[in-house]
Amino acid sequence: MTSNNLTGKNVVIIGGTAGIGLAAAQAAAAAGAKVWVAGRSEAHIESAKQVANGSFEVRQADTHDAASLEAIFKEVGTVDHLISAAVGGERTLKPFLEQTEDQFKAAYDKLWGYAKVVRTGAPYLAEDGAITLVSGSPARKIRPAQSPLSCVGASVENLVRCLAVEMAPVRVNVVSPGTVDTAMFDWMGDEKQDKLAAMTASHLIKRAGTSEEVAQGILFVMQNGFVTGTTIDVDGGRILS
Ligand SMILES: NC(=O)c1ccc[n+]([C@@H]2O[C@H](COP(=O)([O-])OP(=O)(O)OC[C@H]3O[C@@H](n4cnc5c(N)ncnc54)[C@H](OP(=O)(O)O)[C@@H]3O)[C@@H](O)[C@H]2O)c1
Repeated sequence: MTSNNLTGKNVVIIGGTAGIGLAAAQAAAAAGAKVWVAGRSEAHIESAKQVANGSFEVRQADTHDAASLEAIFKEVGTVDHLISAAVGGERTLKPFLEQTEDQFKAAYDKLWGYAKVVRTGAPYLAEDGAITLVSGSPARKIRPAQSPLSCVGASVENLVRCLAVEMAPVRVNVVSPGTVDTAMFDWMGDEKQDKLAAMTASHLIKRAGTSEEVAQGILFVMQNGFVTGTTIDVDGGRILS
């Protein structure tokens, strides 16, 4: 039997108070898992509590603050599924030579955050546990001015392959979203839908994805016990367009 029933499993999602992580929490809870999500801001924590309505736990943690992460892992005890979907870093979307060194380095905060989540959570993982991280299609679809997204995403994907080899039989996978309509694009304000439509016009599936669609990819790697070291693309064909 290679598929893992989520009933009664302990699932921790760092970066789970909005967007893709929150959708994964809802899907895992609906599948019978005991779920804890965490993020930094009170605003997202409050809205996640409304969404959860008691079906999962909501806590405060930052991928860069080991103590805040450890508090959750201690509360949970044994972690069956550890997920990080946090954005976790500032990205400056300019050509590489127009970025300062500090701006380029800042993008890697996502990687350092994920590394801290894994390092802090590993002692609490079940022997047959699994880790799932989130990269992004720019890791393998290069466009101008996206070097920060591309380089950090590729690093996350390679870290996953390293961890899968080193931590087996713990399974480690990564889900790579394309352009997905989440709070990540709220800075676009009233133009968000028009801009997302323009950004996806050349994709094979000509629309932004939903958090729920990406969450299905996360649930797939969580539940399939024969999948490890893999990148699952949920991107509307962006890397082929
Ligand atoms: N949406 C897309 O089009 C897209 C495309 C490619 C890749 N991705 C990747 O997919 C993942 C999820 O993105 P999303 O679109 O769902 O973003 P989102 O809607 O902005 O949600 C991000 C979540 O992560 C939390 N978070 C951010 N930084 C954190 C930190 N340092 N520590 C703990 N929690 C943190 C946020 O809450 P707080 O801000 O309150 O902490 C929120 O709960 C990210 O890794 C993103 O890079 C997204």
